[in-house]
Amino acid sequence: MTELVTTLAGLRAALAPWRDGPIAMVPTMGALHDGHLSLVHEAARHAPRTVVSIFVNPTQFAPHEDFDAYPRTLEADMARLDGSADIVFAPSPAEMYPRGFATLVSVGGPSQGLESDFRPHFFAGVATVVAKLLLAAMPDVAVFGEKDYQQLLVVRRLAADLGLVTRIVGAPTLREADGLAMSSRNAYLDPRERTIAAQMNRILKDVIARAAGGDLHGAEDEGRAALLDAGFDKVDYVAIRDAASLAPVRDLSRPARVLAAAHLGRTRLIDNMPVNV
Ligand code: PAF
Repeated sequence: MTELVTTLAGLRAALAPWRDGPIAMVPTMGALHDGHLSLVHEAARHAPRTVVSIFVNPTQFAPHEDFDAYPRTLEADMARLDGSADIVFAPSPAEMYPRGFATLVSVGGPSQGLESDFRPHFFAGVATVVAKLLLAAMPDVAVFGEKDYQQLLVVRRLAADLGLVTRIVGAPTLREADGLAMSSRNAYLDPRERTIAAQMNRILKDVIARAAGGDLHGAEDEGRAALLDAGFDKVDYVAIRDAASLAPVRDLSRPARVLAAAHLGRTRLIDNMPVNV
C-alpha cells in the first residue's frame, strides 16, 4: 500500500525508519502518465524505497500560465503508483509556502537562456521547490526526466552547489507510438493539435540530420520553419547546444543536444534529443 503524506514533518517521520538503506525520490506535479511511471521504475533500480512527490508548484508558473488549469488527479495518481511507490508526498501550497515565505533559490549556469528567455520565473520556482523537497526527504537518489533536459541540468547544478546528499539521476524520455514526448500537458491537445504535436519529434530528427552536415544555424532555422509549416502557432526556440552546459556550440566536436519549444493553441510543448551520441 502506498502511504499518503501531506506535511513536511510527516514526511520526515515516515522516512526515519528507512534511513538504514537507500531512499529514492521522484518529484512530480502529478497527472501521472507512463513517462512518470518509468521514472519511478528507474528509482527502484537505485533504492528499495521510493517517495513520489505530487505538488503543482505555484512558484514555477507565471500569472498568465496554466497553474489553475494544470490537471490535479491525486486519487488516480495514487492508484497508478500502488505497488511501485512507498510514499506519495502531496503537500498543500500552504505547507510548502507558509505565510511569510520569502526565499527563492536562484541557479545560474545551465538555467540561462532557452526556457529562461521565455519563462524567466521558471527555474527559480523549480529550484526552490526541488531544494525544499530534497532537504525534507534527503533521498540518496532523485530521478528527473530528460524530457525537461534544461531542468535536469539546473537540478544537477543546484544539488552540486548546495552540497546536497542526493545524487541526481536522469531518465530517458518516454514517447507515444508516433514519437510525441509524453507530458501531462498533452491532455490539453485537441485531436487536430495532437496530430500536429507529433511532428515535433520528426522535425527534431531532421534538424539532427541537417546538423550532421556542419551547418548548425541552418539546421536550427530549418527546424523553426518546419514547426510553423507543420501547424505550430509560434516557435520559442530550436537550438543546438552543448549537452553538458547548454552553451551555444559552433560544431559537433563534443556531445550536443537539440532542444525546442513551440506553442500549439493554448499548449506549449517542449522536446529535446541528443545530436551526436
Ligand atoms: O518536472 C516537474 O514536474 C516539475 O518541474 C518538478 C521538478 C516536479 C518541480 O515542480
